[in-house]
Amino acid sequence: MSALFSPFKLKDVTLRNRIAVPPMCQYRAVDGLSNEWHAVHYAGLSRGGAGLVIVEATAVAPEGRITPACLGLWNDAQAQGLARVAAAIKAGGAVPGIQIGHAGRKASAHLPWEGDDHLPADDPAAWEPIAPSALAFGANLPRVPRAMTLADIQRVQQDFVDAARRAREAGFEWLELHFAHGYLAQSFFSSHSNQRDDAYGGDARGRHRFLLETLAAVRRVWPENLPLTARFGVLEYDGRDGETLAESIELTREFKAGGLDLLSVSVGFTIPDTQVPWGPAFLAPVAERVRREAGLPVASAWGIDKPALADQVVAREQMDLVMVGRAHLANPHWPYQAAQALHEPRPSWVLPAPYAHWLERYRPAD
Ligand SMILES: Cc1cc2nc3c(=O)[nH]c(=O)nc-3n(C[C@H](O)[C@H](O)[C@H](O)COP(=O)(O)O)c2cc1C
Repeated sequence: MSALFSPFKLKDVTLRNRIAVPPMCQYRAVDGLSNEWHAVHYAGLSRGGAGLVIVEATAVAPEGRITPACLGLWNDAQAQGLARVAAAIKAGGAVPGIQIGHAGRKASAHLPWEGDDHLPADDPAAWEPIAPSALAFGANLPRVPRAMTLADIQRVQQDFVDAARRAREAGFEWLELHFAHGYLAQSFFSSHSNQRDDAYGGDARGRHRFLLETLAAVRRVWPENLPLTARFGVLEYDGRDGETLAESIELTREFKAGGLDLLSVSVGFTIPDTQVPWGPAFLAPVAERVRREAGLPVASAWGIDKPALADQVVAREQMDLVMVGRAHLANPHWPYQAAQALHEPRPSWVLPAPYAHWLERYRPAD
């Protein structure tokens, strides 16, 4: 058996293999509510054979959506809709996961295919973004956010807690806190975006506070026997990566002490002007370092779309889970094809029985 198709156990959850579908926004929600699109989309991904399917960034508060079409989990009606999505993922054989987050200063944007930039402030669909400091991201997202008060911080942390509780009630078994990609939590971590002079800014201790407190608060409501994970940008590719990565590893150790079960290693994306070395599995050595030095299981993504490469990063212990994103959009049955490519003994059985039974006997050349 290949490393990629070995099961992975974390807390009381066992994934059937090391392939995960990372969160990928669909921009199809209305008022934060899921609909047929989400149920069908996520069911298809699960049926394709991945061990874990993580539902896209789901906002903990209305102003935490990236666009007006992003999912939310700030009310019970949204939780009821997402219960169907979680059940659909489970029916396909994958473990249902969800990413909860707050978009911070990147909120209130057009859909990617409608510009991907901030909505004009006077657009009836727009709202005022909030962030640690009144500093804009820049480039396509020039809107200056309102700096959060201490009351705002407490309220958003409570929103994370409430969303986590609803996620559990909806049937999700794997929770990912969105601490990455320049959204709210990542922007508390980075001195590019956090210039506060109170307890939530300044030195590393201050800049880490929002993330650590949010984790601690969610840990209290998320069941101890289920994986609590976070996605976090451990470096920025802004020329000071040695320092940032060392700080990120230190913070990951603190996450671990605070009850985090796995870190999804990603890029900060806090500022527009960076030199990301895009290429196949470019984050694998970084993920490996975090895994080794922080002593925590890791997942990672970015440019891992070839079965042999996916198998290799697991076999070399660079990551415990491989996140295969866009390749799943191209082909939701990617794991089945990977099983064939890696000469798994019974590749069809990566798929559920109603497909696998027939495919095992089917020979296109016959
Ligand atoms: C359409 C799309 C939506 C995405 N939405 C999210 C998201 O909601 N949360 C997140 O953390 N990353 C998001 N990402 C990043 C992916 O999770 C993943 O890291 C990225 O696609 C790189 O992996 P890949 O090279 O396998 O596609 C998104 C990516 C795409 C293509």
